[in-house]
Amino acid sequence: MLLSSISQLIKDKIKINSEITIGGWVRTKRHSKIGITFIILYDGSCIHDIQVIAYESLNNYKKDILSITSGCSLMITGKLVKSPKKLQKYEIHASKIKVLGWVKNPEKYPISPKKHSLEYLRKVSHLRSRTKLISCITRIKHNIIIYIHNFFHKKNFFCINTPLITTLDTEGSGKMFRVSTIDLKNLFFDSYKKINFKKDFFGKESFLTVSGQLNLESYACSMSKVYTFGPTFRAENSNTNRHLAEFWMLEIEMSFANLKNIMYLAEKLLKYLCKKILNNHIDEINFLSKKNNINLFNKINKIITNKFIIIDYTNAINILIKNKKKFNNQILWGKDLSIEHEKYLTNNYFNGPVIIYNYPKEIKAFYMYLNKDKKTVSSMDVLLPDIGEIIGGSQREHRIDILDQRIKELKLNKKDYWWYRDLRKYGTVIHSGFGLGFERFITYITGLCNVREAIPFPRTPYNAKF
Ligand code: 4AD
Ligand code: MG
Repeated sequence: MLLSSISQLIKDKIKINSEITIGGWVRTKRHSKIGITFIILYDGSCIHDIQVIAYESLNNYKKDILSITSGCSLMITGKLVKSPKKLQKYEIHASKIKVLGWVKNPEKYPISPKKHSLEYLRKVSHLRSRTKLISCITRIKHNIIIYIHNFFHKKNFFCINTPLITTLDTEGSGKMFRVSTIDLKNLFFDSYKKINFKKDFFGKESFLTVSGQLNLESYACSMSKVYTFGPTFRAENSNTNRHLAEFWMLEIEMSFANLKNIMYLAEKLLKYLCKKILNNHIDEINFLSKKNNINLFNKINKIITNKFIIIDYTNAINILIKNKKKFNNQILWGKDLSIEHEKYLTNNYFNGPVIIYNYPKEIKAFYMYLNKDKKTVSSMDVLLPDIGEIIGGSQREHRIDILDQRIKELKLNKKDYWWYRDLRKYGTVIHSGFGLGFERFITYITGLCNVREAIPFPRTPYNAKF
């Protein structure tokens, strides 16, 4: 039997007064004294619930319907009718209601209809997509994934699946999760009393990747325009509202492109995605605005209408030094910006998106193109109000001698990078790319305060329970 979905009803895909069957879960129910039960049902297919009217004449009214509680799963057959109420389009007059799953101990049901805090909902992550908020965010995410693929497909980029297991630390932070089959209770040591990874599964120390970039570069240096979209892992002990140990990153890589070209592309991408959201998901945006008590329309429009401000790192430092606001973190040329600095620039000083470029080489990764001043690299960060850095990218060092010098300066093992260096030996080419933190972007455009609501099962320090 083919079930109808609430989204089909709302989109007028089903004839009024026809008989339909629908499956879903009870959000709330109310029994009236005159022998009618009103059930608010959701099936997750769209932001809307549907009201089901159950009359006393149903043969299981006394046995089942009167005992229904929030969270029960139901299969309902009935007539689709226009609703007399202003706020809802349709309702279903049930001719048959089958309770598929009861809620044991309704008083202990973790997602009762009362308001729950986001912190509480994280503790029941396996059930939190039953709330209107989390399911709404999830549907928006799904659509944005499709828009992302469409955007790049239209621009003739190819999607490359880069590996999740790697032996290289792309970003050079050293904060990676180990991948190993070594028996921790039976370790093998070499003559220097170090663990002998030659006997490990990959014959070498291996990790979960922090970025697919290096592998992506290999494909950019033959297929010109490529991207990858997948999970990345960082073992930093950061308990902030912007950090996850496992997050999704969209990374793009373009040959024959310099830093300016990818700044332009990053702005275009963000504007495109925001336009799509405002054009196609206005019900969700209105709901999220109310729920989060902000004007999300204005927030998203800031990306669409503001020309992104482009300033170099040195200028950004000067602006911060001149400002009168007291910061907790020191502002010093050569130091990375902290979130309070990023927020000052985006929220206060420029009131919109900002791209900062040409950071000091000391605070950036080995692969970035060294500028003529030999002090800065052709890097860029895109910052948005509230959330700060959302994109990090750079022109890549395509000159083998300078790359080797950087590898040496940073005391990396040149041998490990043999295949990456090959790309510079065989038909090297100017190329550039960036990575967009997907959950940070979702957090921004849904008006959330924490990336932990932007991923179904957040992984953070001491938390990988679900
Ligand atoms: O700036 P990042 O570290 O850049 C890279 O990894 C490059 N290899 C990307 C590239 O050029 N292909 O990370 C890119 C973005 C950040 O701007 C941020 O939005 C997000 O990834 N990000 C995180 N998001 C959630 N939790 C974390 N721990 C994150 N670390 C970075
Ligand atoms: Mg970064």
